[in-house]
Amino acid sequence: MANPLNKKYLLIFFITALATVGATLLLINIFEKKQEANLYPSVFKPVGDKETDPKVWGENFPFEYDSFLKTETNEGPTQFGGSDNYQKLEKYPQLIKLFAGYPFSKDYREERGHYWAITDVKNTLRVNDKTPNTCISCKSSQVLVDVEKMGTENFYKAMFKDVGAHYDKGIGCLDCHDPKTMALRVQRPAFIEAMQRRGIDVTKATREQMRSYVCGQCHVEYYFKGDGKYLTFPWDKGLSVDSIEAYYEEYGFKDWDHETSGAPMIKMQHPEFETWSTGIHAKSGVSCVDCHMPYERVGSLKVTNHWIKSPLRNINNACQTCHKWSEEELAGRVKTIQDRVYETMVKSENAILDAINAIKAAKDAGATDEQLKEARKLHRRAQLRWDFVAAENSMGFHSPQETLKTLGNAIDYARLSQLAAEKLMKNVAVK
Ligand code: HEC
Ligand code: HEC
Ligand code: HEC
Ligand code: HEC
Repeated sequence: MANPLNKKYLLIFFITALATVGATLLLINIFEKKQEANLYPSVFKPVGDKETDPKVWGENFPFEYDSFLKTETNEGPTQFGGSDNYQKLEKYPQLIKLFAGYPFSKDYREERGHYWAITDVKNTLRVNDKTPNTCISCKSSQVLVDVEKMGTENFYKAMFKDVGAHYDKGIGCLDCHDPKTMALRVQRPAFIEAMQRRGIDVTKATREQMRSYVCGQCHVEYYFKGDGKYLTFPWDKGLSVDSIEAYYEEYGFKDWDHETSGAPMIKMQHPEFETWSTGIHAKSGVSCVDCHMPYERVGSLKVTNHWIKSPLRNINNACQTCHKWSEEELAGRVKTIQDRVYETMVKSENAILDAINAIKAAKDAGATDEQLKEARKLHRRAQLRWDFVAAENSMGFHSPQETLKTLGNAIDYARLSQLAAEKLMKNVAVK
């Protein structure tokens, strides 16, 4: 039998152990709160929960506000990026043929700083009286106010000309911050819903994850689902282009029929979040913010630079905190990756154009829709992969190996499409 004295000591031991754990947890909690307080300075002049005017927030935080305003600046183009919104259709005229029958063949500009988002969506020739309001979703913090007021479904169902076209505030503090604590926050329904379907609760995200999630609200591939034009991210099967294609196949989705080949096409839109997620930096825990909003010193303060732009304009802060290579070396590494990707991308464009021409020739020679089905399907598969790379804004830097694989498959599918169409030509000619 156990000695009653032993039992007593055991009890005391457990109580002491429990108290120690409790005290430690409390200390950790206090420490974390302190860290958070250091991280996010206090809001002296209270900011409303749905305040869309950055100036009001800026009164509390002049340094962040100053750099935020600089997104208006045009420092000119880099080799493939930068903040000069030149017309891509002039620089790369083959895009007109690749997007034949779709508004992107009429107007397709290089993107620029956040300041311009609201101006550019109103001015693009791709928008007209029939454009759904869904289009404004990633251009203004007024979206967050109206989504709450109108309800998400009604917000998307409305017409752009009736709602979004009247906005005057662009992307602002409200899009990324909680006005009470200044902690990062995501509110856009499409991102929250897409993550939920993947089993991820964004309210439980770590600070590190939030430093990419805030950008993932907008810098992603998406589509308008159903007649209600419900903004949806095609992520249920994963974030790679193959998973996204599998999602669209199951749903039976197309954006348009290609004017020349007749193939049912999908337009990819700036999949930065998806591409980054397959790369070495994401795997190493490096967030969008580490490169695009690096810390800078302002006096004795460490401030997040809110001038979001090409890191090639800021290699010192954006890369050299982690990499001890020289600026020339770092710029050279980016250039090597981008040049290789660009060269391969152009090969994929040529292969797709050959496929388009072969399908057209077969059609002109009398091939039926049924006969052309296989070649068209392959055209679709090739072009959505090429576009996943072309519409992504880093020319492969965010994930070099995955990007080259995607382009390799694009070339393969395009040549298979061309072969299928040419085979048809022979059969049609024999008949
Ligand atoms: C390791 C650093 C790094 C990380 C992490 C990173 N990027 Fe980039 N990003 C770059 C570089 C380098 C470029 C190429 C810039 C150029 O060509 O001028 C770029 C380009 C871009 C561009 C186009 C910029 C322009 O000037 O046209 C966008 C938009 C972008 N990134 C968004 C993101 C988003 C969103 C994430 C996170 C999901 C992210 N990036 C993660 C380094 C990074
Ligand atoms: C596109 C998203 C985005 C927008 C828009 C934005 N911020 Fe931030 N902000 C961030 C990120 C990311 C951090 C870094 C937070 C972290 O690491 O936890 C940050 C940090 C901060 C901090 C904490 C201190 C610091 O400098 O690190 C303050 C204060 C702040 N932002 C103020 C503002 C104000 C004011 C505006 C509007 C004028 C604004 N932010 C707009 C993303 C944004
Ligand atoms: C509310 C939607 C939204 C959010 C959130 C957002 N962006 Fe953007 N971003 C845009 C749009 C739209 C543009 C293009 C604006 C234009 O061309 O008019 C853009 C442009 C950019 C550019 C190009 C800048 C240039 O000078 O060429 C970079 C880089 C970028 N964003 C990075 C980020 C990063 C990093 C984050 C997260 C910290 C982020 N964005 C969050 C919508 C958003
Ligand atoms: C927060 C830290 C951090 C920042 C900021 C950062 N990197 Fe990295 N980078 C890493 C890590 C970690 C790796 C992976 C190294 C490894 O595992 O060997 C890496 C890998 C690389 C590689 C090798 C890629 C490959 O395919 O193996 C290149 C090139 C690179 N970084 C360039 C850059 C450039 C250019 C920038 C600035 C635009 C940058 N990095 C910003 C941490 C960072």
